[in-house]
Amino acid sequence: MNSFLSWVGGKNYLKKEIVKRFPKEYDKYIEVFGGAAWVLFYKDKRGYEVYNDLNSDLVNLFKCVKFHLPELKRELSGILNSRQLFNEMKESCNFIGLTDIQRAARFFMIIKTSYGSKGQHFGCVKKDINIMIDYLYRIQERLSNVIIENMRFEKIIERYDKKNVLFYLDPPYYGTEKYYQVQFSKEEHIKLAEILKNIEGKFILSYNECDYVRGLYSEFNIESVQRLNNLTARYEKDDRRYRELIIRNYK
Ligand SMILES: C[S@@+](CC[C@H](N)C(=O)[O-])C[C@H]1O[C@@H](n2cnc3c(N)ncnc32)[C@H](O)[C@@H]1O
Repeated sequence: MNSFLSWVGGKNYLKKEIVKRFPKEYDKYIEVFGGAAWVLFYKDKRGYEVYNDLNSDLVNLFKCVKFHLPELKRELSGILNSRQLFNEMKESCNFIGLTDIQRAARFFMIIKTSYGSKGQHFGCVKKDINIMIDYLYRIQERLSNVIIENMRFEKIIERYDKKNVLFYLDPPYYGTEKYYQVQFSKEEHIKLAEILKNIEGKFILSYNECDYVRGLYSEFNIESVQRLNNLTARYEKDDRRYRELIIRNYK
């Protein structure tokens, strides 16, 4: 199934390439940089699954969809899709006085109605709130066995690392860190590579194609895959292809 959100760096266009490279055997699946979880929603529901992200607004939204959907539905049905409301919600999303459900509803609408799902500017897109809410019921069902975590990548890897575990990692791409609400530094790319060199479990990692990332993971199985770059395809007819890397510590 598809995710319920577009997200910067979301893997809608790469999910099939990633899932087809999963190993046959694993007991636990951990999505370390969950985002909108396009890969988790696409893969078979099986075994023990963990969704993690450091962005606490996003994690709160996942939790409210899983545990408080009727309340979230009630809150969402009072929200109009309008520029004025969008700007007001953007200002007030992190007010301390809001409940988790109010915060989740605002965050959801901000992402859904913003340009490019970046949460910055009103996107003038037509959205049917009832269709969105109906789909959340399918998402709730899919999340029924998923554990939702809100940790830094190093902590979640340390917590779950075992021989029978598969980690899927989709960090902010090298050079695109500024597009995310949570900070990701150049040192963290290095730290992630160092951690992955020493884990017991299996990992599959997606990254942008660049020499720097190839250098960090030179000892692993690196494949380059190509996909249509939506934005480029829209504006520049000649350069429609975007290359990404899929890196694994298994064959
Ligand atoms: C490329 S996006 C993941 C997209 C996701 N695969 C999808 O399909 O929607 C990277 C995610 O990493 C999260 N993130 C950034 N720094 C992190 C950290 N130190 N630990 C865990 N998550 C982090 C961001 O909040 C963002 O949601």
